[in-house]
Amino acid sequence: MSAALIDGKAFAAGLRDRVGTLAARFEAQVGRKAGLAVVLVGEDPASQVYVRSKGKQTVEAGMASFEYKLPADTSEADLLARVEALNADPVIDGILVQLPLPDHIDEQKVIATIAPDKDVDGFHVVNAGRLAVGQPGFVPCTPLGCLMLLKDRLGTLAGREAVVIGRSNIVGKPMAQLLLAESCTVTVAHSRTADLPAVVRRADIVVAAVGRPEMVKADWLKPGATVIDVGINRVAAAEPGKTRLVGDVDFTGASTVAGAITPVPGGVGPMTIAVLLRNTLVAAWRNAG
Ligand code: GUN
Repeated sequence: MSAALIDGKAFAAGLRDRVGTLAARFEAQVGRKAGLAVVLVGEDPASQVYVRSKGKQTVEAGMASFEYKLPADTSEADLLARVEALNADPVIDGILVQLPLPDHIDEQKVIATIAPDKDVDGFHVVNAGRLAVGQPGFVPCTPLGCLMLLKDRLGTLAGREAVVIGRSNIVGKPMAQLLLAESCTVTVAHSRTADLPAVVRRADIVVAAVGRPEMVKADWLKPGATVIDVGINRVAAAEPGKTRLVGDVDFTGASTVAGAITPVPGGVGPMTIAVLLRNTLVAAWRNAG
């Protein structure tokens, strides 16, 4: 291992501390806590874990957490009515509807119903548009967390070659927009990219967000590259019946070539909720002001 480890866990803890200080100031000045509403439909076990963790960290940061757990057979109309009620509620600053939603509910319709200025996930088309044209808005939490780690590690990103692997609305596309705004030369690679290893080899910065366990290999990397691994994949462990978490990058191999790399777990993962808290506080100040 020659690469430096990018410690997202420690960075996220520092960010949560800073948010906590600002949340206390908000409460002192405005006379109420900043409030985050999280809506969960159904009983997906992974989503339940995320929602519990979000609620706990929201309260620890000195903000108010409002959780709405709705049954899996909740109608689309009822969910939209719930979102409308949260839009109108002055003690709610941020609204997050946990994805994925059950198949009978149109996710895009739900996201479009969230008031853009309470959309702390940054998924609404208005916020995607604001990011694209450089206006202030909300940026999706995971890519914004990746950017914070990159800037902390590298300082200015201007002029660097960045390759984003993955083109999702939640990570790949906003990540590319953020890097472009930092004056990187950005390539968005995806499942149909020809000769992906050759494309990745150009990169000073690699952000892997494809959901394919350990796909990015050591010999795909330019020596010294900074590697941000967004993947969280559960695979079989060597021990029978056990599983382990791996990223989209072959960590052991990549660590011998990269200049710096995020581990999985403990890299990008903890940043998502920390940035969500930060976005909620920003929303609170905007909504109060
Ligand atoms: N499901 C998994 N991650 C997320 C997230 O960041 N936001 C929402 N709304 N749903 C998710």
